[in-house]
Amino acid sequence: MQLIDGKATSKAIKAEIKTEVDSLVLAGHRPPHLAAILVGHDGGSETYVAYKIKDCEEVGFKSSLVRFEDDVKEEVLLEKICELNGDPGLDGFIVQLPLPDHINEQKVIETINPKKDVDGFHPLNVGRTVIGLPSFVSATPFGIIELLKRYHIETSGKHCVVVGRSNIVGRPMSILMSQKSINATVTVAHSRTKDLETLCASADILIAALGAPGFIKEHMVKEGAVVIDVGTTRVPSSETKSGFRLKGDVIFEEVAPKCSYITPVPGGVGPMTRVSLLSNTLLAAKGNIYS
Ligand code: GUN
Repeated sequence: MQLIDGKATSKAIKAEIKTEVDSLVLAGHRPPHLAAILVGHDGGSETYVAYKIKDCEEVGFKSSLVRFEDDVKEEVLLEKICELNGDPGLDGFIVQLPLPDHINEQKVIETINPKKDVDGFHPLNVGRTVIGLPSFVSATPFGIIELLKRYHIETSGKHCVVVGRSNIVGRPMSILMSQKSINATVTVAHSRTKDLETLCASADILIAALGAPGFIKEHMVKEGAVVIDVGTTRVPSSETKSGFRLKGDVIFEEVAPKCSYITPVPGGVGPMTRVSLLSNTLLAAKGNIYS
């Protein structure tokens, strides 16, 4: 069994990005600039946005944080998005999700200029991904593909089972795995899938993205399978300073001995998700997607 080290891989990618930023700046360009819009004070969202800003600093990007209170009017948020869309000094931005119930999330996503949609959530980017055109791909699937490539994991002709069909992870993941450069045969499983356990056990590559801690057990994994654990559920813990720890969708201790490759939680997919937002922002700054 080989551990897929997302932490080390993301560190290597960050160093590559920093090198590119340094040469852009040396050539007289301004550094790439990412902005984040944060509505309210949800603990998880605060943490994720703080990480995004710290990541920008580490690679030499400029970053901006735009804050609104929970009760912000939808039209005010949409106006700010339009302002950022037209700001020539900004390469990309994200609106941290989830948003309060009175705000239409889809409307927010569709207001973002696809050329600055470094989250890859806009339907134009999703659609371009589906038909194999250059696009911003959402960060978690992007990061997983990068891990598979950097570990030279064979995907061609393999049966890939993706458990979960979210717009952010499961669905785009399934699309990417079936693309011509990857060539896997993909099954998307979800809460209504019949005999899910047998299906998972038939996977050469199992991507668990349900957000159900410890769902994938030893008997659901084939000998020699590649297992990618996307789960990062916060569970209470008395052993950490923050009072919680991250738990994956896979019972690592049971499953790991059967795998050819497996990602740990933490230190697997999570750091790759973080660095992929930086990769997308660099692509936006270079104008590589919509050239
Ligand atoms: N909430 C959880 N994950 C994400 C993400 O990748 N982007 C944004 N904008 N919000 C999130």
